[in-house]
Amino acid sequence: MRNITNYDVLILGGGAAGLMCAIEAGKRGRRVLVIDHAKKPAEKIRISGGGRCNFTNLHCGPGNFLSQNPHFCKSALSNYTSADFIELVRRHQIPFHEKTLGQLFCDTSAKDIIKMLLVEMAAVKAELWLETNISQVTKIDDGFRVETSKGSLEAQSVVVATGGKSIPKMGATGFGYDIAAQFGLAVIEPRPALVPFTYTSDIAETWGQMSGVAMDVRTSIAKTRFEEAMLITHRGLSGPAILQISSYWREGNAVEINMAPNHEIGIELAGARHERPKATVATVLSDFLPKRFAQHIAEHLNISELKLADMSKKTIQLCEDYIHKHSFMPGGTEGYRTAEVTLGGVSTSELSQKTMEAKSVPGLFFIGEVVDVTGHLGGHNFQWAWSSGVAAGQAV
Ligand code: FDA
Repeated sequence: MRNITNYDVLILGGGAAGLMCAIEAGKRGRRVLVIDHAKKPAEKIRISGGGRCNFTNLHCGPGNFLSQNPHFCKSALSNYTSADFIELVRRHQIPFHEKTLGQLFCDTSAKDIIKMLLVEMAAVKAELWLETNISQVTKIDDGFRVETSKGSLEAQSVVVATGGKSIPKMGATGFGYDIAAQFGLAVIEPRPALVPFTYTSDIAETWGQMSGVAMDVRTSIAKTRFEEAMLITHRGLSGPAILQISSYWREGNAVEINMAPNHEIGIELAGARHERPKATVATVLSDFLPKRFAQHIAEHLNISELKLADMSKKTIQLCEDYIHKHSFMPGGTEGYRTAEVTLGGVSTSELSQKTMEAKSVPGLFFIGEVVDVTGHLGGHNFQWAWSSGVAAGQAV
């Protein structure tokens, strides 16, 4: 006779979404086991937000998410809001602050959030098995059987919370997509998102030399735009404005960057021509841009020695276009190695927006990043993990 352990709910993946789901299901008296192959739970929470975890955003709403169905996330997000999570954080007396744009961070350490989730789990007697490999998930008469390196398990409900493919070094796998495919569910092709761009070979050397230069920019693709900081690195462009727009970028397309969104360079240069005719263009541009970048523009346009008095209208136009309508053609992205999230995932058309249960496979749920719901930078991805975890936790 094989030894089979029974639970009501098996949650595959002990990250943000899985732990939240376990807490909610446990509160309803369900016997819950969370299984993870990693040594520690919620490693991504630990490294998130530079170690301080940007755990939610005060302004989080459906408009902060990308999905084939932009309406799908509404139900879960309104059922469990950022205010609900803040209330939980307050109850655990975790100190936090708003950094910018509604982004809430721990004052001390992201580990406070992990500890809070584990304390909540223990309070409802939800179990957690770490360093446990999952080899198979099969449908049986009254639920599912899950084969693991620690034995066979059976449960009425299985929740897939194994996240996306980003940062494989931290244990990310495509496991959730494989399970979806096994049960015949459509998966929107996953791709790295919130990820730095790399240079094309023709600009790699000149731009790479400006590594470390940061400035506030506006990035845009069609009607989508973000106004935040950009960082020039040895390998490409990074910083929040770049990571945000990367989720909308596709190979072969350019990104428009306005390097000085709060200035009108043409007007500034024309005005300065009367006031400082002997100043060089690069000197005047460095009033609005980092000095190294101003010098780069002057070199690029071959006007390093040009005095403002000698500047033609055409040259002013060239400066204006380079700064305000810069067409940046990425060579590619840094890929899953550094991507903060994975775009795409289990198609929302396969899932109930209220419970995250697969419509064609009763008892099978998908939550968190594995679903085709991807947030903007700024705490929205964790809010989706909490909200979708609670939605499933109330239904399993
Ligand atoms: P998550 O990836 O957290 O958890 C999945 C779990 O499943 C992991 O514990 C993994 O070990 C386990 N697993 C995977 N495959 C398995 C398998 N085959 N068998 C068993 N277990 C398996 N978001 C945000 O809102 N604010 C922020 O500050 C940040 N910061 C940030 C920094 C960095 C560097 C990264 C990479 C990401 C962020 N994010 C973020 C994004 C955020 O971390 C992410 O969206 C959530 O962690 C997703 O939660 P999930 O629970 O869905 O997956």
